[in-house]
Amino acid sequence: MVAEGIAPSAISAFESTFSSLQSGATGMIPESTISPAPDLLKYEDITATPNADLLSQTVVLKLNGGLGTGMGLDKAKSLLKVKGNDTFLDLAAKQVISMRKNYGNVKFMLMNSFSTSDDTMSFLKSNYPSLVEGVEMLQNKVPKLDRETFLPATCPTNPDNEWCPPGHGDLYAALVGSGKLDALLADGIKYMSVSNSDNLGATMDLSLLAHFAASNAPFMMECCERTENDKKGGHLAQRNSDSQLILRESAMCADEDKDEFQNISKYKYFNTNNLWVRLDILKEVITKFGGFIPLPMIMNKKTVDPKDDESQKVIQLETAMGAAIECFSGATAIVVPRTRFAPVKKCDDLILLRSDAYLISDDFRPMLNPLCGGKAPIVSLDSKKYKLVGQLEKCTRNGVPSLVNCQRLTVQGEVWMSRKCIFEGEVSLVNTADEPKLLPGRKFANTKLDLTAAPG
Ligand code: UTP
Repeated sequence: MVAEGIAPSAISAFESTFSSLQSGATGMIPESTISPAPDLLKYEDITATPNADLLSQTVVLKLNGGLGTGMGLDKAKSLLKVKGNDTFLDLAAKQVISMRKNYGNVKFMLMNSFSTSDDTMSFLKSNYPSLVEGVEMLQNKVPKLDRETFLPATCPTNPDNEWCPPGHGDLYAALVGSGKLDALLADGIKYMSVSNSDNLGATMDLSLLAHFAASNAPFMMECCERTENDKKGGHLAQRNSDSQLILRESAMCADEDKDEFQNISKYKYFNTNNLWVRLDILKEVITKFGGFIPLPMIMNKKTVDPKDDESQKVIQLETAMGAAIECFSGATAIVVPRTRFAPVKKCDDLILLRSDAYLISDDFRPMLNPLCGGKAPIVSLDSKKYKLVGQLEKCTRNGVPSLVNCQRLTVQGEVWMSRKCIFEGEVSLVNTADEPKLLPGRKFANTKLDLTAAPG
């Protein structure tokens, strides 16, 4: 294994997570040490006036290091078509171009990983050449570690498999190590808006920018209110010792505290991963910690070759960028509408976005079709038959059904649908047979249909 030109900031960050691993640190955050976050300001109550002039001091950065392996993808997830012929990256690029036309220049950057860089850059060169210059920041890579010995794993058949991206918490080390942080500051860029490239709801919002600038806070997290569906995920909290805002993820919660962790009226907010960072203060914080930002370790258990379950069992050490809230004294958070949190994590999310329930606005933002009456249909596809994008595309090879008048669609088993299928109200489709069943192209309203005995 050869460490090629890895920056000191990345090495320090890795040393920090590795020493947590070695010391057996649990990273637990006991209930007795935290309190609920104070009630947060709501987006609707922002008083600062939107000011497009601030854009000239702003960089919009999209996290683009992930492959979307959970959905069976093996190149940059942002190159997946999500609406018509547009990919996540098309929409992000078109938003930036439209913003530049309407308000003037705003910097745009992507944090790519070694797995997403080539595909992403050749896509941008072919389709959006005006965005190419200075757009890429390459994230670091860290060695996968043997699960027993913690030594670097080996994969003689494909040595690339010996490395992995260290999670999006690597953002800070990558900014320092690549020299981009200094370059941005030298260019007069003070505000950074960061979000996942698979969250099309995270568009540049001038009210949030104005509020962040006026607040003078070093760091601002966009949060949403937790619902029953979100109670298993992490939450915002306040540390008792110094009133610092922190995140508690489920892995940081001991079994005896699980009930409190899932108490959504006590811990009301979750992190959308849309963050705002003051770059000048980021530089000070990094200097204070000795050249990196110490973030809680996340340990993922995998195999060295992701395509071979029998290959060496490894640990991948990661960190998450939102966890940095605990490192910025004076960090703040704001409650944003749920529309700003629309990540595509499952085929349920993808079919909805591809359907007529969503439209694309003139400035390339996805928005719920007004005919849906403000409520997105709830889609629940069979988790085995529609786990991978390839499976969804096979079942919708003749187009995605109409969902605009549908409140709930449930599909159990494999059912092939087309754009001529129109679902209205609550529709449930069942196929318990092994072979797929083809749904005829017509309207289905408030019905439960068992297709098991239907011809294939
Ligand atoms: P996730 O890990 O939640 O998304 O990353 P994903 O790409 O759907 O994940 P898998 O592959 O199925 O597990 C959230 C965002 O962070 C970026 C991803 O590109 C996505 O936009 N990311 C994640 C990075 O940029 N670098 C990383 O190392 C990890």
